[in-house]
Amino acid sequence: MGGGPLYEVYFMNILITGCAGFIGYHLSKYLLDNTNHNIYGIDSINNYYDVKIKNKRILILKKNRRFKFYKFNLCNKSSLNNNFKRNNYRIVINLAAQAGVRHSIKHPDEYFDSNLKAFYNIINLSRIYNIKHFIYASSSSVYGDLKKFPLKENNRTDSPLSFYAATKKCNEIIAYSYSNIYKLQCTGLRFFTVYGPFGRPDMALYKFVKNIHSNKYIDMNNNGKHVRDWTYIDDVVVQISKIINLKLPKNSKTPHNIFNIGSNNPKSLKYFLKIIEKNLNKKALIKYKRFQIGDVYKTHADNQKIIKYLKKEYYTSIEKGVREYIAWYKDFYG
Ligand SMILES: NC(=O)c1ccc[n+]([C@@H]2O[C@H](COP(=O)([O-])OP(=O)(O)OC[C@H]3O[C@@H](n4cnc5c(N)ncnc54)[C@H](O)[C@@H]3O)[C@@H](O)[C@H]2O)c1
Repeated sequence: MGGGPLYEVYFMNILITGCAGFIGYHLSKYLLDNTNHNIYGIDSINNYYDVKIKNKRILILKKNRRFKFYKFNLCNKSSLNNNFKRNNYRIVINLAAQAGVRHSIKHPDEYFDSNLKAFYNIINLSRIYNIKHFIYASSSSVYGDLKKFPLKENNRTDSPLSFYAATKKCNEIIAYSYSNIYKLQCTGLRFFTVYGPFGRPDMALYKFVKNIHSNKYIDMNNNGKHVRDWTYIDDVVVQISKIINLKLPKNSKTPHNIFNIGSNNPKSLKYFLKIIEKNLNKKALIKYKRFQIGDVYKTHADNQKIIKYLKKEYYTSIEKGVREYIAWYKDFYG
């Protein structure tokens, strides 16, 4: 794990939504293992992908007595209000959302509920209960098809290519307004293709490894020409753990910040596949697919802003990241 442990001398009650999800699980685990904070997790455990993976993640987190789990949908305002009332949170990290660009084409309702309605419920309660820092997941997809790389936080983000991206952009705008009106400190994180152990089954790495392993064809979207800024999960959670303590200047008029969370090391899908094949010591059977509507051709994060704020950052190489993932996969699935 890059960055080393955080030896906190104090503890806070931190709420992490989406704690049964990929990033939420890793962040909860990292904070439980490396700090004294109490971690409270909420997740509806929806069936967007195999719930066995989500339940397994929760089972691991529950081994730590400082973790408390609540299963309900964030759209349920009264459950959420009771939860806030009971737990005296200081920090809220909202990672729950309906993820996935392609799924949003056929299922926009799910995005409206989890990414807009639920987002409003949680940011509004964060204001009412005087949360010190509201941190939320945005996405690299807000950059649409901008072609000037690397993508910087202050670039134009008004042309999302999918409804998923549109909901993430809305989150940023809502958070900005809450910072401006209520002085709620908010930080938006634009994640760039996060991958690693326990990763999401709807993402390329999981599908590729699973199918190559069982001699099935893999779908190679856009003929493998997509370029992504693959970002390793351990680096992401170390950065979020530092962002929790980030203080903006006291007199900051609008205490809102946005960071790219990306490795600044873009590589094509084809290259990514090559590393997987090398690690599995097996060639993939490939079905080449055309470009899919809603997708972006390339992502590439400028990560200078976060490096400046957090001083020095460590980024895991794709070679090491994929190796770690495959070791986990073999262990998990036998
Ligand atoms: N993984 C990535 O590469 C990536 C990239 C960009 C942005 N993001 C964003 O980061 C966040 C975390 O992503 P992830 O990869 O861990 O996704 P994930 O799907 O693994 O986790 C999201 C979790 O939120 C829960 N959830 C969804 N709607 C809910 C609701 N209404 N109430 C309660 N729980 C709900 C789901 O059950 C799930 O466990 C999401 O906001 C996602 O949009 C992720």
